[in-house]
Amino acid sequence: MQTYDLFAPTTETERHALYARMRAESGLCRIAPFGAYAAARYEDVRTIQKDAQRFSSEALATTAEPPWLGPNPVAQSLVTRDPPRHTQLRALINRAFGPTGMARLEAQVRQEAQTLAEAAVSQREVDLVDAFSFVLPRNIIGRMLGLEPSTFTEFKRWSVNMGLITSAVPAQHAGIRDTVKEMEDYLGGVITARRRQPGEDMVSDLLRAEVEGQRLTDAEVLSFLFLLLPAGMETTAQLIGNAAILLARHPEQLEQARADRAHIPRFIEEVLRCEPPAQFAFRVATSDVELSGTPIPAGSLVMGLVASANRDERIFEQPDVFAPGREKASQHLSFGHGIHFCLGAQLARMEARLALEALVPRIRALRLRAPDIEWLPGLTIHGPRTLPVELLPA
Ligand code: HEM
Repeated sequence: MQTYDLFAPTTETERHALYARMRAESGLCRIAPFGAYAAARYEDVRTIQKDAQRFSSEALATTAEPPWLGPNPVAQSLVTRDPPRHTQLRALINRAFGPTGMARLEAQVRQEAQTLAEAAVSQREVDLVDAFSFVLPRNIIGRMLGLEPSTFTEFKRWSVNMGLITSAVPAQHAGIRDTVKEMEDYLGGVITARRRQPGEDMVSDLLRAEVEGQRLTDAEVLSFLFLLLPAGMETTAQLIGNAAILLARHPEQLEQARADRAHIPRFIEEVLRCEPPAQFAFRVATSDVELSGTPIPAGSLVMGLVASANRDERIFEQPDVFAPGREKASQHLSFGHGIHFCLGAQLARMEARLALEALVPRIRALRLRAPDIEWLPGLTIHGPRTLPVELLPA
């Protein structure tokens, strides 16, 4: 079996060329430096995401608790649980993120998007991450959790550091440990305050919730918050940031979106397919398994290469072409598949749609001020770290 170094490609084009080779060769390979088994083809990646019995998420909790970090509340959360516990925890929170909850939130997200877009366009030259793409989801999840707006400015640093845990180099360890401690203190304080005085926010809802007659412990609520806060900001910020890059690179798409608002959701689906914010699905094989005819021993770390699956020529015609409205567009695996399918998918799609509905009519062009994008560090989360742009008012 071939071994590939995912860190070797230096550009996005090179990375996708590497994925195409992996798909064409055996489909399953080993990845340096972690030694994980990686699946590059669509069917295999979907199997890894869907088959929770053979591909466990619970066994991943240890990767969220490397020896240099120790206990990490996120390791106790929904995303690293298998059934039956996963089913119980998910049932508790599903409703808040379903259609009724989202419909209630829509006016608030629209208002926030309009205000931020107005301010960004009036400045003309801005860092779109700072001014718009990160701030919108940050403010929304912050309010959903009932957090104090004056504390929101800390969240960016926290989410960047949390995203680095699985691939951190020693120089980053101390900063990440400090972040976990800071978040524990902050979120622990929020839980104590809401226990004393419950309100109409998601933290109070979680404290009131019962699973099979039992309330969640403070540690369980803390782990929910450790998951929800970064998950609610970082991935959606990358979706909006990647959408802005593609609008700049495809001015005809901006034209189409300006002419017909109904084009925006189609555009967003294709951004999700081509530039998935979460690039990999990680699992541990619970027994000896096979993918693409190749055996994987029990206990192995298995990676589904989502960014590769979304460009598998077996499913998508001319997969490297950016073509909103294409056939099978929504079959991408960017929100996962099966029981761990992204809880916030509806929220993320709504935020991205309302973000573009606010920005697009206000501009006649969006120009990137630097030819090369400065991407976020690490390979797991894909999107711009900063995005200096010029917004030409309509
Ligand atoms: C799960 C992607 C936005 C909360 C997932 C998974 C993916 C994903 C791929 C599955 C992980 C796995 O299979 O192991 C994304 C993307 C987003 C986004 C691409 C934005 C474009 C959000 C938002 C929230 C959220 C806005 C919440 C406010 C969650 C939670 C889970 C999850 C709680 C765990 C679900 C479970 O294990 O049952 N997300 N997400 N996500 N996402 Fe998202």
